[in-house]
Amino acid sequence: VLFAFVTTHLLNHALGLVSLAAMDAGLVWFLALWRSAAGTVALYAAFLVHMVLALWSLYRRRHLRMPAWEATQLVLGLLIPPLLVSHAVGTRLAAEWLDVTTSYRLVTLALWELQPVNGARQLLVLALAWVHGCIGLHFWLRLRPWYPRVVPVLYGLALVLPVCAALGFAHAGREVSALARQPGWVQETLRAANAPDPARRARLAVVERGVRGGFLGALALVLLARGVRAWHDRRRGAIRVTYAGGGDVLVPVGFTLLEASRLAGIPHVSVCGGRGRCSTCRVRVERGLDRLPAASPDERRVLHRVGAAPDVRLACQVRPAHDLVVRPLLSPGARARDRFRAPEPATGQEREIAVLFADLRGFTTIAERKLPYDVVFILNRYFESVGSAIEGAGGTVNQFTGDGVMALFGVTSDPEAACRQALRAAGEILRSLDRLGETLADELAGPLRMGIGIHAGPAVVGRMGYSTAMYLTAVGDTVHVASRLEGLTKEYGAPLVISEKVARLAGLDVSACPRHEVAVRNRSEPLAIRVVEDIGRLLPGHAG
Ligand code: FES
Repeated sequence: VLFAFVTTHLLNHALGLVSLAAMDAGLVWFLALWRSAAGTVALYAAFLVHMVLALWSLYRRRHLRMPAWEATQLVLGLLIPPLLVSHAVGTRLAAEWLDVTTSYRLVTLALWELQPVNGARQLLVLALAWVHGCIGLHFWLRLRPWYPRVVPVLYGLALVLPVCAALGFAHAGREVSALARQPGWVQETLRAANAPDPARRARLAVVERGVRGGFLGALALVLLARGVRAWHDRRRGAIRVTYAGGGDVLVPVGFTLLEASRLAGIPHVSVCGGRGRCSTCRVRVERGLDRLPAASPDERRVLHRVGAAPDVRLACQVRPAHDLVVRPLLSPGARARDRFRAPEPATGQEREIAVLFADLRGFTTIAERKLPYDVVFILNRYFESVGSAIEGAGGTVNQFTGDGVMALFGVTSDPEAACRQALRAAGEILRSLDRLGETLADELAGPLRMGIGIHAGPAVVGRMGYSTAMYLTAVGDTVHVASRLEGLTKEYGAPLVISEKVARLAGLDVSACPRHEVAVRNRSEPLAIRVVEDIGRLLPGHAG
Protein backbone atom coordinates (compact mmCIF):
# COMPACT_ATOMS: atom_id res chain seq x y z
CA VAL A 1 0.00 0.00 0.00
CA LEU A 2 2.75 2.43 0.95
CA PHE A 3 4.73 1.66 -2.18
CA ALA A 4 1.62 2.17 -4.30
CA PHE A 5 1.10 5.52 -2.60
CA VAL A 6 4.67 6.66 -3.28
CA THR A 7 4.48 5.41 -6.88
CA THR A 8 1.26 7.26 -7.65
CA HIS A 9 2.68 10.35 -5.94
CA LEU A 10 5.78 10.24 -8.15
CA LEU A 11 3.66 9.69 -11.25
CA ASN A 12 1.62 12.73 -10.30
CA HIS A 13 4.81 14.79 -9.92
CA ALA A 14 6.01 13.56 -13.30
CA LEU A 15 2.97 15.15 -14.92
CA GLY A 16 4.74 18.44 -14.18
CA LEU A 17 6.80 17.68 -17.28
CA VAL A 18 3.62 18.49 -19.18
CA SER A 19 2.40 21.45 -17.15
CA LEU A 20 1.23 22.64 -13.75
CA ALA A 21 -2.35 22.22 -14.95
CA ALA A 22 -1.68 18.57 -15.85
CA MET A 23 -0.31 17.98 -12.35
CA ASP A 24 -3.46 19.41 -10.81
CA ALA A 25 -5.64 17.36 -13.16
CA GLY A 26 -3.75 14.22 -12.05
CA LEU A 27 -4.12 15.31 -8.43
CA VAL A 28 -7.90 14.99 -8.71
CA TRP A 29 -7.48 11.25 -9.34
CA PHE A 30 -4.75 10.90 -6.77
CA LEU A 31 -6.91 12.49 -4.07
CA ALA A 32 -9.98 10.55 -5.14
CA LEU A 33 -8.00 7.37 -4.47
CA TRP A 34 -6.07 8.24 -1.32
CA ARG A 35 -8.57 10.54 0.38
CA SER A 36 -11.49 8.20 -0.07
CA ALA A 37 -12.58 6.38 3.09
CA ALA A 38 -11.05 3.09 1.89
CA GLY A 39 -7.86 4.78 0.66
CA THR A 40 -7.46 6.68 3.93
CA VAL A 41 -7.90 3.60 6.09
CA ALA A 42 -5.57 1.51 3.91
CA LEU A 43 -2.88 4.19 3.80
CA TYR A 44 -2.79 5.15 7.46
CA ALA A 45 -3.24 1.60 8.70
CA ALA A 46 -0.38 0.47 6.46
CA PHE A 47 1.78 3.31 7.72
CA LEU A 48 1.03 2.50 11.34
CA VAL A 49 1.58 -1.24 10.90
CA HIS A 50 4.81 -0.60 9.02
CA MET A 51 6.15 1.66 11.77
CA VAL A 52 5.19 -0.70 14.57
CA LEU A 53 6.75 -3.69 12.78
CA ALA A 54 9.90 -1.69 12.02
CA LEU A 55 10.30 -0.69 15.67
CA TRP A 56 9.52 -4.24 16.77
CA SER A 57 12.15 -5.69 14.44
CA LEU A 58 14.64 -3.11 15.70
CA TYR A 59 13.91 -4.27 19.22
CA ARG A 60 14.29 -7.95 18.30
CA ARG A 61 17.77 -7.52 16.85
CA ARG A 62 20.27 -8.45 19.52
CA HIS A 63 22.97 -6.31 17.89
CA LEU A 64 23.15 -3.93 14.99
CA ARG A 65 25.76 -5.61 12.85
CA MET A 66 24.08 -6.33 9.55
CA PRO A 67 24.74 -6.35 5.82
CA ALA A 68 24.96 -2.94 4.15
CA TRP A 69 21.60 -3.30 2.39
CA GLU A 70 19.79 -3.99 5.63
CA ALA A 71 21.51 -1.10 7.38
CA THR A 72 20.65 1.25 4.50
CA GLN A 73 17.03 0.19 4.55
CA LEU A 74 16.80 0.59 8.30
CA VAL A 75 18.42 4.03 8.44
CA LEU A 76 16.36 5.36 5.52
CA GLY A 77 13.21 3.96 7.09
CA LEU A 78 13.91 5.71 10.42
CA LEU A 79 14.65 9.01 8.69
CA ILE A 80 11.42 9.12 6.71
CA PRO A 81 8.77 9.77 9.43
CA PRO A 82 10.43 12.79 11.07
CA LEU A 83 11.20 14.32 7.67
CA LEU A 84 7.79 13.58 6.21
CA VAL A 85 5.59 14.84 8.99
CA SER A 86 5.64 18.53 8.01
CA HIS A 87 4.42 17.73 4.48
CA ALA A 88 1.65 15.45 5.73
CA VAL A 89 0.51 18.04 8.28
CA GLY A 90 0.77 20.88 5.74
CA THR A 91 -1.37 19.11 3.15
CA ARG A 92 -3.71 16.43 4.52
CA LEU A 93 -4.23 17.78 8.02
CA ALA A 94 -4.47 21.37 6.76
CA ALA A 95 -7.13 20.27 4.26
CA GLU A 96 -9.18 18.29 6.79
CA TRP A 97 -8.82 20.61 9.75
CA LEU A 98 -8.43 24.10 8.29
CA ASP A 99 -10.17 23.66 4.96
CA VAL A 100 -7.05 24.45 2.94
CA THR A 101 -7.38 23.39 -0.68
CA THR A 102 -4.66 20.92 -1.69
CA SER A 103 -3.27 21.82 -5.09
CA TYR A 104 0.05 21.60 -6.88
CA ARG A 105 -0.29 25.30 -7.56
CA LEU A 106 -0.21 26.06 -3.82
CA VAL A 107 2.29 23.37 -2.80
CA THR A 108 4.72 24.22 -5.61
CA LEU A 109 4.45 27.89 -4.76
CA ALA A 110 5.25 27.09 -1.12
CA LEU A 111 8.04 24.59 -1.76
CA TRP A 112 9.70 26.10 -4.81
CA GLU A 113 9.18 29.80 -4.48
CA LEU A 114 8.50 30.70 -0.85
CA GLN A 115 10.38 28.01 1.15
CA PRO A 116 12.90 26.33 -1.20
CA VAL A 117 14.66 24.65 1.74
CA ASN A 118 11.45 22.78 2.53
CA GLY A 119 11.15 21.89 -1.15
CA ALA A 120 14.64 20.37 -1.17
CA ARG A 121 13.79 18.44 2.00
CA GLN A 122 10.61 17.18 0.42
CA LEU A 123 12.48 15.93 -2.64
CA LEU A 124 14.95 14.23 -0.33
CA VAL A 125 12.12 12.45 1.57
CA LEU A 126 10.62 11.21 -1.67
CA ALA A 127 13.99 9.85 -2.78
CA LEU A 128 14.55 8.17 0.61
CA ALA A 129 11.07 6.64 0.59
CA TRP A 130 11.56 5.40 -2.95
CA VAL A 131 14.96 3.82 -2.28
CA HIS A 132 13.71 2.35 1.02
CA GLY A 133 10.70 0.81 -0.75
CA CYS A 134 12.75 -0.47 -3.68
CA ILE A 135 15.21 -2.19 -1.35
CA GLY A 136 12.35 -3.82 0.53
CA LEU A 137 10.63 -5.01 -2.62
CA HIS A 138 13.87 -6.24 -4.16
CA PHE A 139 14.87 -8.32 -1.15
CA TRP A 140 11.36 -9.72 -0.90
CA LEU A 141 10.80 -10.51 -4.56
CA ARG A 142 14.26 -11.80 -5.38
CA LEU A 143 13.24 -15.10 -3.81
CA ARG A 144 10.65 -15.57 -6.56
CA PRO A 145 11.73 -17.70 -9.52
CA TRP A 146 10.34 -15.24 -12.09
CA TYR A 147 12.08 -12.22 -10.59
CA PRO A 148 15.43 -12.41 -12.44
CA ARG A 149 13.54 -12.24 -15.74
CA VAL A 150 11.76 -8.99 -14.92
CA VAL A 151 14.46 -7.29 -12.86
CA PRO A 152 15.97 -5.30 -15.80
CA VAL A 153 12.58 -3.73 -16.49
CA LEU A 154 11.90 -3.02 -12.82
CA TYR A 155 15.38 -1.59 -12.38
CA GLY A 156 14.81 0.75 -15.33
CA LEU A 157 11.49 1.91 -13.88
CA ALA A 158 13.03 2.36 -10.44
CA LEU A 159 15.52 4.81 -11.97
CA VAL A 160 13.28 6.58 -14.46
CA LEU A 161 10.26 7.27 -12.27
CA PRO A 162 11.92 9.38 -9.52
CA VAL A 163 14.00 11.25 -12.10
CA CYS A 164 10.85 12.12 -14.07
CA ALA A 165 9.12 13.12 -10.82
CA ALA A 166 11.98 15.44 -9.80
CA LEU A 167 12.13 16.98 -13.28
CA GLY A 168 8.34 17.36 -13.28
CA PHE A 169 8.48 19.20 -9.96
CA ALA A 170 11.31 21.43 -11.20
CA HIS A 171 9.43 22.17 -14.42
CA ALA A 172 6.31 23.08 -12.48
CA GLY A 173 8.45 25.16 -10.11
CA ARG A 174 9.76 27.25 -13.01
CA GLU A 175 6.24 27.72 -14.26
CA VAL A 176 5.16 28.92 -10.83
CA SER A 177 8.19 31.26 -10.62
CA ALA A 178 7.14 32.90 -13.88
CA LEU A 179 3.54 33.24 -12.64
CA ALA A 180 4.72 34.64 -9.30
CA ARG A 181 6.29 37.57 -11.10
CA GLN A 182 2.84 38.72 -12.19
CA PRO A 183 1.55 41.34 -9.75
CA GLY A 184 -0.93 39.93 -7.24
CA TRP A 185 -0.66 36.29 -8.42
CA VAL A 186 0.89 34.99 -5.21
CA GLN A 187 -1.66 36.70 -2.98
CA GLU A 188 -4.54 35.55 -5.14
CA THR A 189 -3.25 31.94 -5.14
CA LEU A 190 -2.87 31.93 -1.35
CA ARG A 191 -6.31 33.45 -0.89
CA ALA A 192 -8.03 31.09 -3.33
CA ALA A 193 -6.54 28.06 -1.58
CA ASN A 194 -7.42 29.40 1.86
CA ALA A 195 -3.73 29.13 2.82
CA PRO A 196 -3.29 29.27 6.59
CA ASP A 197 -2.33 32.57 8.21
CA PRO A 198 0.48 32.69 10.82
CA ALA A 199 -1.89 31.82 13.69
CA ARG A 200 -3.23 28.74 11.97
CA ARG A 201 0.29 27.77 10.83
CA ALA A 202 1.32 27.88 14.48
CA ARG A 203 -1.48 25.41 15.33
CA LEU A 204 -0.28 23.08 12.58
CA ALA A 205 3.29 23.41 13.85
CA VAL A 206 2.18 22.24 17.31
CA VAL A 207 0.70 19.07 15.79
CA GLU A 208 3.80 18.59 13.67
CA ARG A 209 6.09 18.79 16.70
CA GLY A 210 3.79 16.44 18.60
CA VAL A 211 3.83 13.76 15.89
CA ARG A 212 7.58 14.04 15.35
CA GLY A 213 8.18 13.94 19.10
CA GLY A 214 5.91 10.90 19.43
CA PHE A 215 7.90 9.00 16.82
CA LEU A 216 11.27 9.98 18.27
CA GLY A 217 9.97 9.08 21.74
CA ALA A 218 8.89 5.64 20.54
CA LEU A 219 12.30 5.16 18.94
CA ALA A 220 14.03 6.20 22.15
CA LEU A 221 11.84 3.76 24.12
CA VAL A 222 12.82 0.91 21.80
CA LEU A 223 16.51 1.75 22.19
CA LEU A 224 16.07 1.93 25.95
CA ALA A 225 14.29 -1.44 25.97
CA ARG A 226 17.17 -2.89 23.96
CA GLY A 227 19.61 -1.59 26.55
CA VAL A 228 17.62 -3.10 29.44
CA ARG A 229 17.38 -6.42 27.65
CA ALA A 230 21.11 -6.44 26.87
CA TRP A 231 21.82 -5.88 30.57
CA HIS A 232 19.41 -8.70 31.44
CA ASP A 233 20.95 -11.00 28.80
CA ARG A 234 24.41 -10.45 30.23
CA ARG A 235 23.16 -11.49 33.65
CA ARG A 236 21.78 -14.73 32.19
CA GLY A 237 25.27 -15.69 31.06
CA ALA A 238 26.86 -16.48 27.75
CA ILE A 239 27.07 -19.49 25.48
CA ARG A 240 29.74 -20.55 23.03
CA VAL A 241 28.89 -21.21 19.41
CA THR A 242 31.61 -23.19 17.67
CA TYR A 243 31.78 -23.40 13.87
CA ALA A 244 32.85 -26.78 12.57
CA GLY A 245 34.67 -25.05 9.70
CA GLY A 246 36.72 -22.95 12.17
CA GLY A 247 36.07 -20.14 14.63
CA ASP A 248 33.86 -19.68 17.65
CA VAL A 249 32.08 -16.88 19.45
CA LEU A 250 30.80 -16.18 22.94
CA VAL A 251 27.34 -14.58 22.85
CA PRO A 252 24.71 -13.80 25.46
CA VAL A 253 21.76 -16.18 25.72
CA GLY A 254 18.96 -14.96 23.46
CA PHE A 255 21.04 -14.32 20.33
CA THR A 256 20.06 -16.20 17.19
CA LEU A 257 22.79 -18.26 15.56
CA LEU A 258 22.81 -15.81 12.65
CA GLU A 259 23.31 -12.91 15.04
CA ALA A 260 26.13 -14.85 16.67
CA SER A 261 27.83 -15.32 13.27
CA ARG A 262 27.44 -11.65 12.42
CA LEU A 263 28.78 -10.57 15.79
CA ALA A 264 31.82 -12.81 15.34
CA GLY A 265 32.32 -11.59 11.76
CA ILE A 266 31.91 -15.13 10.48
CA PRO A 267 30.53 -15.01 6.90
CA HIS A 268 27.07 -16.51 7.02
CA VAL A 269 24.75 -16.21 4.06
CA SER A 270 21.22 -14.92 4.75
CA VAL A 271 19.50 -14.05 1.52
CA CYS A 272 16.19 -12.96 3.10
CA GLY A 273 17.93 -10.98 5.84
CA GLY A 274 17.01 -13.34 8.66
CA ARG A 275 13.27 -13.35 8.05
CA GLY A 276 12.99 -17.15 7.95
CA ARG A 277 11.92 -17.26 4.32
CA CYS A 278 14.88 -18.37 2.23
CA SER A 279 16.62 -21.22 4.13
CA THR A 280 20.07 -20.07 2.99
CA CYS A 281 21.24 -19.57 6.58
CA ARG A 282 20.63 -23.22 7.43
CA VAL A 283 23.18 -25.03 9.58
CA ARG A 284 23.80 -28.61 10.57
CA VAL A 285 23.88 -28.79 14.37
CA GLU A 286 26.72 -31.17 15.12
CA ARG A 287 26.53 -30.94 18.90
CA GLY A 288 23.76 -29.74 21.21
CA LEU A 289 20.82 -30.46 18.91
CA ASP A 290 18.85 -32.35 21.57
CA ARG A 291 18.71 -29.33 23.88
CA LEU A 292 17.52 -26.84 21.30
CA PRO A 293 13.92 -25.63 21.46
CA ALA A 294 11.73 -27.26 18.81
CA ALA A 295 11.39 -25.49 15.48
CA SER A 296 8.40 -23.19 15.07
CA PRO A 297 5.79 -24.13 12.44
CA ASP A 298 7.24 -21.48 10.07
CA GLU A 299 10.75 -22.81 10.47
CA ARG A 300 9.53 -26.38 10.01
CA ARG A 301 7.75 -25.40 6.81
CA VAL A 302 10.90 -23.89 5.29
CA LEU A 303 13.04 -26.85 6.38
CA HIS A 304 10.51 -29.25 4.94
CA ARG A 305 10.53 -27.28 1.69
CA VAL A 306 14.27 -27.91 1.26
CA GLY A 307 13.99 -31.50 2.45
CA ALA A 308 16.39 -30.76 5.30
CA ALA A 309 17.75 -33.57 7.49
CA PRO A 310 16.54 -33.64 11.13
CA ASP A 311 19.78 -32.10 12.40
CA VAL A 312 19.45 -29.04 10.18
CA ARG A 313 18.03 -25.76 11.55
CA LEU A 314 17.63 -22.19 10.34
CA ALA A 315 20.32 -20.06 11.97
CA CYS A 316 18.14 -16.97 11.92
CA GLN A 317 15.37 -18.67 13.90
CA VAL A 318 17.27 -20.65 16.54
CA ARG A 319 18.05 -18.97 19.85
CA PRO A 320 20.19 -21.44 21.76
CA ALA A 321 20.52 -21.38 25.53
CA HIS A 322 23.60 -23.65 25.68
CA ASP A 323 26.86 -24.32 23.84
CA LEU A 324 26.56 -25.57 20.26
CA VAL A 325 28.71 -26.83 17.43
CA VAL A 326 27.27 -25.92 14.02
CA ARG A 327 28.24 -26.07 10.36
CA PRO A 328 26.69 -23.55 7.92
CA LEU A 329 25.54 -25.51 4.87
CA LEU A 330 25.67 -22.91 2.12
CA SER A 331 28.82 -21.08 1.14
CA PRO A 332 28.92 -17.38 2.10
CA GLY A 333 28.74 -16.40 -1.58
CA ALA A 334 25.39 -18.14 -2.09
CA ARG A 335 22.72 -16.08 -3.83
CA ALA A 336 18.92 -16.03 -3.89
CA ARG A 337 18.71 -18.71 -6.55
CA ASP A 338 20.79 -21.06 -4.36
CA ARG A 339 18.32 -21.07 -1.50
CA PHE A 340 16.87 -24.49 -2.21
CA ARG A 341 20.04 -25.88 -3.74
CA ALA A 342 22.09 -28.39 -1.84
CA PRO A 343 25.73 -27.53 -1.10
CA GLU A 344 28.07 -29.49 -3.27
CA PRO A 345 30.67 -31.88 -1.92
CA ALA A 346 34.02 -30.77 -3.32
CA THR A 347 35.45 -34.26 -3.40
CA GLY A 348 33.81 -37.57 -4.18
CA GLN A 349 31.58 -39.03 -1.46
CA GLU A 350 29.41 -42.06 -1.44
CA ARG A 351 25.88 -40.99 -0.56
CA GLU A 352 22.35 -42.33 -0.65
CA ILE A 353 20.69 -40.12 -3.22
CA ALA A 354 17.70 -40.08 -5.55
CA VAL A 355 18.36 -39.75 -9.27
CA LEU A 356 15.77 -38.49 -11.73
CA PHE A 357 15.96 -38.95 -15.49
CA ALA A 358 13.48 -37.14 -17.72
CA ASP A 359 13.15 -37.24 -21.47
CA LEU A 360 10.91 -35.32 -23.86
CA ARG A 361 8.95 -37.78 -25.98
CA GLY A 362 8.81 -37.45 -29.77
CA PHE A 363 10.90 -34.33 -29.85
CA THR A 364 12.93 -35.56 -32.82
CA THR A 365 9.73 -35.65 -34.88
CA ILE A 366 8.81 -32.16 -33.70
CA ALA A 367 12.31 -30.91 -34.49
CA GLU A 368 12.31 -32.32 -38.02
CA ARG A 369 9.49 -30.00 -39.03
CA LYS A 370 10.97 -26.90 -37.45
CA LEU A 371 13.62 -24.35 -38.33
CA PRO A 372 16.77 -24.70 -36.21
CA TYR A 373 15.99 -21.39 -34.50
CA ASP A 374 12.55 -22.68 -33.45
CA VAL A 375 14.05 -25.92 -32.14
CA VAL A 376 16.49 -24.01 -29.94
CA PHE A 377 13.74 -21.67 -28.76
CA ILE A 378 11.40 -24.52 -27.77
CA LEU A 379 14.19 -26.50 -26.14
CA ASN A 380 15.32 -23.51 -24.10
CA ARG A 381 11.78 -22.90 -22.85
CA TYR A 382 11.57 -26.59 -21.99
CA PHE A 383 14.92 -26.60 -20.14
CA GLU A 384 13.89 -23.50 -18.24
CA SER A 385 10.65 -25.15 -17.08
CA VAL A 386 12.33 -28.41 -16.13
CA GLY A 387 15.33 -26.74 -14.48
CA SER A 388 13.13 -24.48 -12.33
CA ALA A 389 10.96 -27.42 -11.29
CA ILE A 390 14.02 -29.41 -10.19
CA GLU A 391 15.73 -26.56 -8.38
CA GLY A 392 12.46 -25.43 -6.84
CA ALA A 393 12.04 -28.87 -5.32
CA GLY A 394 15.57 -28.84 -3.90
CA GLY A 395 17.42 -30.84 -6.55
CA THR A 396 20.47 -30.15 -8.66
CA VAL A 397 20.31 -30.29 -12.43
CA ASN A 398 23.21 -32.48 -13.37
CA GLN A 399 23.14 -32.36 -17.14
CA PHE A 400 20.96 -31.63 -20.14
CA THR A 401 21.64 -33.97 -23.01
CA GLY A 402 19.66 -33.39 -26.18
CA ASP A 403 16.09 -33.24 -24.89
CA GLY A 404 16.81 -35.23 -21.72
CA VAL A 405 17.84 -34.20 -18.24
CA MET A 406 19.41 -35.89 -15.22
CA ALA A 407 18.95 -34.47 -11.73
CA LEU A 408 20.26 -35.37 -8.28
CA PHE A 409 18.41 -35.09 -4.99
CA GLY A 410 19.72 -35.58 -1.48
CA VAL A 411 23.32 -34.49 -1.98
CA THR A 412 23.23 -33.26 1.60
CA SER A 413 19.82 -34.27 2.87
CA ASP A 414 18.68 -37.69 3.95
CA PRO A 415 17.38 -40.25 1.43
CA GLU A 416 13.77 -39.93 2.60
CA ALA A 417 13.75 -36.20 1.92
CA ALA A 418 15.60 -36.81 -1.35
CA CYS A 419 12.86 -39.13 -2.61
CA ARG A 420 10.12 -36.73 -1.60
CA GLN A 421 11.93 -33.91 -3.40
CA ALA A 422 12.42 -36.00 -6.55
CA LEU A 423 8.73 -36.93 -6.64
CA ARG A 424 7.72 -33.34 -6.05
CA ALA A 425 10.03 -32.29 -8.91
CA ALA A 426 8.48 -34.94 -11.18
CA GLY A 427 5.00 -33.60 -10.41
CA GLU A 428 6.10 -30.04 -11.07
CA ILE A 429 7.92 -31.00 -14.30
CA LEU A 430 4.78 -32.65 -15.67
CA ARG A 431 2.64 -29.75 -14.61
CA SER A 432 4.96 -27.14 -16.11
CA LEU A 433 5.18 -29.20 -19.30
CA ASP A 434 1.41 -28.97 -19.64
CA ARG A 435 1.61 -25.23 -19.20
CA LEU A 436 4.43 -24.98 -21.73
CA GLY A 437 2.47 -27.12 -24.19
CA GLU A 438 -0.47 -24.71 -23.88
CA THR A 439 1.77 -21.69 -24.39
CA LEU A 440 3.40 -23.22 -27.47
CA ALA A 441 0.20 -24.77 -28.79
CA ASP A 442 0.50 -22.84 -32.06
CA GLU A 443 4.05 -24.12 -32.57
CA LEU A 444 3.38 -27.78 -31.87
CA ALA A 445 1.35 -30.42 -33.61
CA GLY A 446 0.26 -32.02 -30.32
CA PRO A 447 0.80 -31.90 -26.55
CA LEU A 448 4.30 -32.28 -25.13
CA ARG A 449 4.90 -35.59 -23.37
CA MET A 450 7.63 -36.80 -21.07
CA GLY A 451 8.96 -39.95 -19.54
CA ILE A 452 10.48 -39.72 -16.05
CA GLY A 453 12.32 -42.42 -14.10
CA ILE A 454 13.36 -42.13 -10.44
CA HIS A 455 15.50 -44.49 -8.40
CA ALA A 456 17.29 -44.12 -5.07
CA GLY A 457 20.41 -45.77 -3.77
CA PRO A 458 24.11 -45.30 -3.16
CA ALA A 459 26.18 -43.34 -5.67
CA VAL A 460 29.50 -41.55 -5.70
CA VAL A 461 28.78 -37.83 -5.79
CA GLY A 462 31.28 -35.09 -6.47
CA ARG A 463 32.43 -32.38 -8.81
CA MET A 464 33.86 -34.00 -11.88
CA GLY A 465 35.08 -32.80 -15.25
CA TYR A 466 37.99 -30.81 -16.54
CA SER A 467 39.13 -27.21 -16.24
CA THR A 468 36.06 -24.93 -16.41
CA ALA A 469 33.77 -27.81 -17.37
CA MET A 470 33.53 -29.14 -13.77
CA TYR A 471 30.09 -29.97 -12.50
CA LEU A 472 28.40 -31.90 -9.74
CA THR A 473 27.51 -35.36 -10.88
CA ALA A 474 27.00 -38.88 -9.64
CA VAL A 475 28.19 -42.25 -10.87
CA GLY A 476 27.11 -45.73 -9.97
CA ASP A 477 24.40 -48.30 -10.53
CA THR A 478 21.70 -46.07 -9.08
CA VAL A 479 22.23 -43.70 -12.01
CA HIS A 480 21.98 -46.53 -14.58
CA VAL A 481 18.83 -47.89 -12.97
CA ALA A 482 17.13 -44.46 -12.95
CA SER A 483 17.96 -44.11 -16.64
CA ARG A 484 16.54 -47.56 -17.32
CA LEU A 485 13.31 -46.67 -15.48
CA GLU A 486 12.96 -43.59 -17.65
CA GLY A 487 13.28 -45.86 -20.70
CA LEU A 488 10.55 -48.14 -19.31
CA THR A 489 8.02 -45.28 -19.39
CA LYS A 490 7.83 -45.80 -23.19
CA GLU A 491 7.16 -49.49 -22.70
CA TYR A 492 4.36 -48.89 -20.17
CA GLY A 493 3.01 -45.77 -21.87
CA ALA A 494 3.10 -43.83 -18.57
CA PRO A 495 4.73 -40.51 -17.64
CA LEU A 496 6.50 -41.82 -14.54
CA VAL A 497 8.15 -45.04 -13.38
CA ILE A 498 9.70 -45.24 -9.92
CA SER A 499 11.38 -47.99 -7.99
CA GLU A 500 9.46 -49.30 -4.99
CA LYS A 501 12.36 -48.18 -2.85
CA VAL A 502 11.67 -44.56 -3.80
CA ALA A 503 8.01 -44.92 -2.84
CA ARG A 504 8.92 -46.56 0.45
CA LEU A 505 11.51 -43.93 1.41
CA ALA A 506 9.13 -41.12 0.47
CA GLY A 507 6.43 -42.73 2.59
CA LEU A 508 3.96 -42.94 -0.33
CA ASP A 509 1.15 -45.42 -0.65
CA VAL A 510 1.57 -46.75 -4.21
CA SER A 511 -0.71 -49.75 -3.87
CA ALA A 512 -2.95 -48.32 -6.63
CA CYS A 513 -0.04 -48.16 -9.10
CA PRO A 514 0.70 -51.25 -11.21
CA ARG A 515 3.67 -53.23 -9.90
CA HIS A 516 6.26 -54.96 -12.09
CA GLU A 517 9.57 -56.64 -11.55
CA VAL A 518 12.33 -55.91 -14.03
CA ALA A 519 15.83 -57.23 -14.50
CA VAL A 520 18.60 -54.66 -14.19
CA ARG A 521 22.31 -54.82 -14.87
CA ASN A 522 24.59 -55.96 -12.02
CA ARG A 523 21.68 -57.24 -9.88
CA SER A 524 20.87 -60.85 -9.39
CA GLU A 525 17.42 -59.98 -7.97
CA PRO A 526 14.76 -58.32 -10.13
CA LEU A 527 13.91 -54.76 -9.21
CA ALA A 528 10.34 -53.97 -8.07
CA ILE A 529 8.94 -50.91 -9.77
CA ARG A 530 5.68 -48.96 -9.84
CA VAL A 531 4.12 -47.37 -12.88
CA VAL A 532 2.57 -44.03 -12.00
CA GLU A 533 -0.13 -42.83 -14.35
CA ASP A 534 -1.24 -39.81 -12.35
CA ILE A 535 1.21 -38.28 -9.94
CA GLY A 536 -1.44 -35.80 -8.83
CA ARG A 537 -3.17 -38.66 -6.99
CA LEU A 538 0.04 -39.59 -5.17
CA LEU A 539 1.11 -36.08 -4.27
CA PRO A 540 -1.73 -33.85 -3.13
CA GLY A 541 -1.41 -30.42 -4.70
CA HIS A 542 0.23 -31.69 -7.87
CA ALA A 543 -1.72 -32.45 -10.99
CA GLY A 544 0.15 -34.80 -13.26
S1 FES B 1 18.24 -15.92 6.50
FE1 FES B 1 16.61 -16.54 5.23
S2 FES B 1 15.80 -18.20 6.37
FE2 FES B 1 17.38 -17.52 7.64
